[in-house]
Amino acid sequence: MAGFTLLDGRLACDGIPVADIAAGTGTPVYVYSASLIRGAHAALDAAFAAYPHTIHYALKANSTLAILRLIRGLATGADANSGGEIEAALRAGFEPSQIVFTGVGKTRDELDRAVALGMKAINIESDGEADRIDALARARGVKARVALRVNPDIEANTHAHISTGQRFNKFGVPIEFAAPLLRRLAGKPGLEVVGLHLHLGSQMLDVEPLGAAARALAALARDVRDAGLRLEHLDVGGGLGIGYDGAAHGSPAEYASAVLPAVRPTGLHLLLEPGRFIVAAAGILVGRVADTKAYAGSPRFIILDTGMTELIRPMLYDAFHRIVAVAPREGEQQQCEVVGPLCETSDTLGHQRQFGPVEVDDLIAVLDAGAYGFVMASNYNRRRMPAEVLVDGGSWRVVRKRQSYGDLFRNEE
Ligand code: LLP
Repeated sequence: MAGFTLLDGRLACDGIPVADIAAGTGTPVYVYSASLIRGAHAALDAAFAAYPHTIHYALKANSTLAILRLIRGLATGADANSGGEIEAALRAGFEPSQIVFTGVGKTRDELDRAVALGMKAINIESDGEADRIDALARARGVKARVALRVNPDIEANTHAHISTGQRFNKFGVPIEFAAPLLRRLAGKPGLEVVGLHLHLGSQMLDVEPLGAAARALAALARDVRDAGLRLEHLDVGGGLGIGYDGAAHGSPAEYASAVLPAVRPTGLHLLLEPGRFIVAAAGILVGRVADTKAYAGSPRFIILDTGMTELIRPMLYDAFHRIVAVAPREGEQQQCEVVGPLCETSDTLGHQRQFGPVEVDDLIAVLDAGAYGFVMASNYNRRRMPAEVLVDGGSWRVVRKRQSYGDLFRNEE
């Protein structure tokens, strides 16, 4: 049975009881289903099958090496957002020519490394960055392949913290300045302009803004091509959302029908940078009930051994994640606050949730935690980073050990 299902009333991952995994690893632990990652990738790939495209998986969503190796095996590319993510992609076996390097505020060291490696494209964020890449490439006697990241000034209809494509956002070059800049870049001996790039936002369930962004990018491509610039690709970024409430939303097919009509007439190769869509539903965060309390006049609290240090999305974006008991007990449902152990009131994973009876040591799973979960974890309150498990082909293995106290203090005087 693929994915997270109930097996004899208990939560299982690809047929393996989650309780068996937690008994082996302890909690908190992230558990990932390889079959769900393959399935999400295949669904997206199939939706775009009618047009030449490459999926450049956005490492920022989850860059655990075992997950990256799995994704590299699906014949995709990578989108790296920092020197560390380039390193992760290389260690997972991606070739530099399969990696696009995006990101606002790339340092000179990061740019120099990218130039030396020879990436598929460095996505340029500003005039100044273009000049720095040109100088670094000339110093090495090479031409750096670059794409220009434009800011199309289109509302993404998502949470303000993860909306990136409007004028007041720090990302990219406002689209009306793009054509003159591209002409200027074409004359630079250290640069080879190969593409145009944008990323509008994340967790987008309405695909129309993605269509509008693709139209804006395609129009720009036509303009600059008429001016004699030879492009290879259009990179429309990531952003396709998932149904955190468990319902189906914004399917890959709808996404493709929003984007392809704009891109097709250009004939340019299409790059996609999905992160969340590939991994979000494929991961859960498993914790244990550490305590419960219910006093008259206060909410009933379920206090877990996991919270904002392992999964910060609910606190940072008011994000909703379903929370379930791994082995639900019979009994009356009651309204609860599902909270973590950290010394922060914002450390609430689930507000006003209906829960049946729970007891200390019961296992609880937070669903759809595969994207922007572990990667955003921290050591706040001197907590150790959790373990991660990958379930594949009927067996499970620890792909990242829980941090030890030795790890926690290693770099200190
Ligand atoms: N490409 C670029 C340039 C990006 O900035 C992003 C995400 C992606 C691709 C991948 O987007 P996706 O397909 O995953 O939506 N921490 C937030 C999400 C931040 C996304 C930042 N950029 C969250 O937990 O919702």
